[in-house]
Amino acid sequence: MEYSKNIESLSSSMTLAFSTKAKNLIANGVPIVDLTAGEPDFDTPEYIRKAGINAINTGKTRYTASNGTLELRTEICRKLKEFNNLEYNPANIIVSTGAKQSLLNTLMAICNPGDEVLIPSPYWVSYPEMTKIASGKPVIVETNYDNDFKVTPSDLDKYLTSKSKVLILTNPSNPTGAVYSKSDLEALASWAIKNKIFVISDEIYERLNYYSKHTSIASLNEKIKEQTITIGGFSKSYAMTGWRLGYCAANDNITTLMGKIQSHATSCANSVAQYAGYIALKDEENQIDDMVKEFKKRSEIVYNLISNSNLTMVKPQGAFYGFIDVSYIIGKTYNNSIISNASEVASILLDDYEVALLPGIAFGNDKYVRISYATNEDIINEGIKRLIKLTEDVK
Ligand SMILES: Cc1ncc(COP(=O)(O)O)c(C=O)c1O
Repeated sequence: MEYSKNIESLSSSMTLAFSTKAKNLIANGVPIVDLTAGEPDFDTPEYIRKAGINAINTGKTRYTASNGTLELRTEICRKLKEFNNLEYNPANIIVSTGAKQSLLNTLMAICNPGDEVLIPSPYWVSYPEMTKIASGKPVIVETNYDNDFKVTPSDLDKYLTSKSKVLILTNPSNPTGAVYSKSDLEALASWAIKNKIFVISDEIYERLNYYSKHTSIASLNEKIKEQTITIGGFSKSYAMTGWRLGYCAANDNITTLMGKIQSHATSCANSVAQYAGYIALKDEENQIDDMVKEFKKRSEIVYNLISNSNLTMVKPQGAFYGFIDVSYIIGKTYNNSIISNASEVASILLDDYEVALLPGIAFGNDKYVRISYATNEDIINEGIKRLIKLTEDVK
């Protein structure tokens, strides 16, 4: 009996595998300092939790329209206009089971077998595998540390072929915390228009932007809007990871195709989560401001500690991650053997220093580890202290 060769070729999420190992150690009583979290350490704000309870008690527990309730899609349009400077109709919005499903729907709606998907590295772990699920071919585009790992038109030119179909942008970035400025995006938009490349703009961390006003690439002009699919969600901005709610905004042709996929795949996103998401947008006052301030403060703690050590990192401008260059440790000797990459650094840190940092290979670069500062300051300080201790222990 044969299984799908395409699916057999996928790797499972390396980030989930590594953080599961850390969690198992913690469950067995090992005092691991866990810096792997991919979700806010804050609870869903109370006004949203209440909306969820209210939805259950008032019978909002049935299938909804496949693309999402009209009230939520209308509210998303209001938010897109006010926050992202983007004008869309509810018909251009598809609400899904997390931004993850929105991304997969998009790739499936766009890709024909062998179409090339340009993925700037370091990248979010799921993009290459999602591309393969959608029968596309992931093309990893190298970027420069000196440009905060933000992809540029000249980086992209090196990978452009007649099969290039779509570029995935993550703004702000997981894993680097980099944020694209308006002028960065203008240059990329011109490149995408000139080369007729779709842009999937993953803006799931848009609210966690510490030093500038967020710009959506689709807001720059009508041409780029036409070929961009903007991905948004509730997981990170509203601390709603487990509710599984995300959405995309795109032109009619794309949303029609995506609607077909979703109607057969999941019917609709969870009805209770949709109602809570509607209230999250509609009744937001300043409930998430404190969370954003706290993340900004922590990002500066991480950056200052690392900058004062033998390690380096790009200063995070958003999201809640930092990508730490551990080249200083690589090539040195620990316990009589030479450390050859950041995956080994991450393993030593977990096994001997009891601190969990994700190996950068999961994001396409094996000289880095990813730190998540979605945890409290004491844990951050302790974890970085242990990492720095390793830099002192190697020879
Ligand atoms: C860059 C990026 N995009 C999308 C997602 C998926 O988010 P959701 O929980 O909405 O599926 C994540 C989650 O970690 C992410 O980091």
